[in-house]
Amino acid sequence: MKSTPRTSIAAAATYAAAILLTLLTSCSWEDQGSPVDGGGEEAGSNRNGALSVSPAQTECEVGRQVTLRADYANDPGARFHWRIVSGTGSVNGQGVFQAPLSLPVRSLTSIIQVSLQSDTAKRVFARVVVTTQHPEPDTGNGGSQTGALRIDPEIAEIYRGERQDFVLRDANGAAVAGAVWSVDQGRGAIDPAGRFTAPTSMSAPQESSTIVAAYEGGNYLARVTYFNSAPDEVCFTREILPLLRSNCALSGCHDAATAEDDVDLTDYNSLMHSDGIVRPGRGSKSELYEVLVEKDMDDRMPPAGREPLTSEQIALIKRWIDEGAQESDCPDPNGPLCDTENIGYSSHVVQILETNCIGCHSGSNPSGGLDFRSGQVVQQAALDGRLAGAVQRQPGYSPMPPVAALSDCDVDKLLAWINGGAALD
Ligand code: HEC
Repeated sequence: MKSTPRTSIAAAATYAAAILLTLLTSCSWEDQGSPVDGGGEEAGSNRNGALSVSPAQTECEVGRQVTLRADYANDPGARFHWRIVSGTGSVNGQGVFQAPLSLPVRSLTSIIQVSLQSDTAKRVFARVVVTTQHPEPDTGNGGSQTGALRIDPEIAEIYRGERQDFVLRDANGAAVAGAVWSVDQGRGAIDPAGRFTAPTSMSAPQESSTIVAAYEGGNYLARVTYFNSAPDEVCFTREILPLLRSNCALSGCHDAATAEDDVDLTDYNSLMHSDGIVRPGRGSKSELYEVLVEKDMDDRMPPAGREPLTSEQIALIKRWIDEGAQESDCPDPNGPLCDTENIGYSSHVVQILETNCIGCHSGSNPSGGLDFRSGQVVQQAALDGRLAGAVQRQPGYSPMPPVAALSDCDVDKLLAWINGGAALD
């Protein structure tokens, strides 16, 4: 049972690749004299001062390429860095974007950053929507209906042991009966009705499986990611680890290199191996918690001069230990796809900074002289390029946060805010 869809996917991929190699060199159907899908999608260019990239937005089918053009008005001979900041595919030094041969979902957006080699703070972004299929050019025989099918949802995120229903739908959204469901690449089980059940025990913080619906010779794919926690539990990777990293795992304190008092708080394993400071299930008896509420200010953590943790943050750490101090991970509360539209300072940026940066960038002696409690300071670092350079860990900037990079989605949100003018709304 399990090998059938795997084989047919491989066959479909080979078949698709063969067609793609013979037919396709560029992403636009215009090039082939076929009707253009949806109009308006292909926007002119994105501009940042003298630097621009075009097209600013375009679509690209799996397996195809699209060539992006960068221009720097002040220097026709300028050289550029190309980089995918989120999404899929690859881009070479000439701005040629290559879409992958297949996608686990129907479409994914890639954001491509172009920067000047001579001044990487000057950058613009282009957006390529990679799609698995394109409306069939009118062949006169009505085309095949299967091209318009998709699994709903195409990306899902659930907790360990949870269920997720998948449905195959046609272009009008109506459910299509008769698909044969299977799980390919990954664990979990799916029943004949399309109901997936995630494994109840996991060793990694998160895992993914590919869901396949086979129907009339076509395979339709979806991806489900399951997380090693329960919905009402504190989430270690999202809620606890960033606090430890930005308040405790500082150079000269509890980072891997210093490990003051043999305590290294840079990741889960080192935390749990640090001298028994966490006693799973016993928050109030764990030193990690005790030092946060210590009455003797000489022993209180973080030490004087550093911003103390808030009472909510302290309560969260205690609760996490009480719940068993697992390396729990959980779905993004904003959903599985990173939404970089309408990113505002108070609605998004402040939250990212609070969780990941404020521990160092505040207090009487803020790191790097940058107190991010002040919006003006954040805006200044955004406009002079340091914020983007630091969070993308680019050469010439100090990588921030020092211990581990932000999630891709947080980086994309910050870049979207910066690129949109870094307004303090
Ligand atoms: C563990 C402490 C720590 C955390 C957490 C931290 N920083 Fe920093 N940051 C520093 C220190 C120390 C410096 C100054 C020394 C240096 O440049 O390495 C600095 C410098 C910077 C600079 C100037 C970089 C440059 O190259 O001029 C920026 C921008 C910055 N941080 C942004 C951030 C952002 C954004 C975050 C959160 C996403 C963050 N930092 C989290 C310690 C931290």
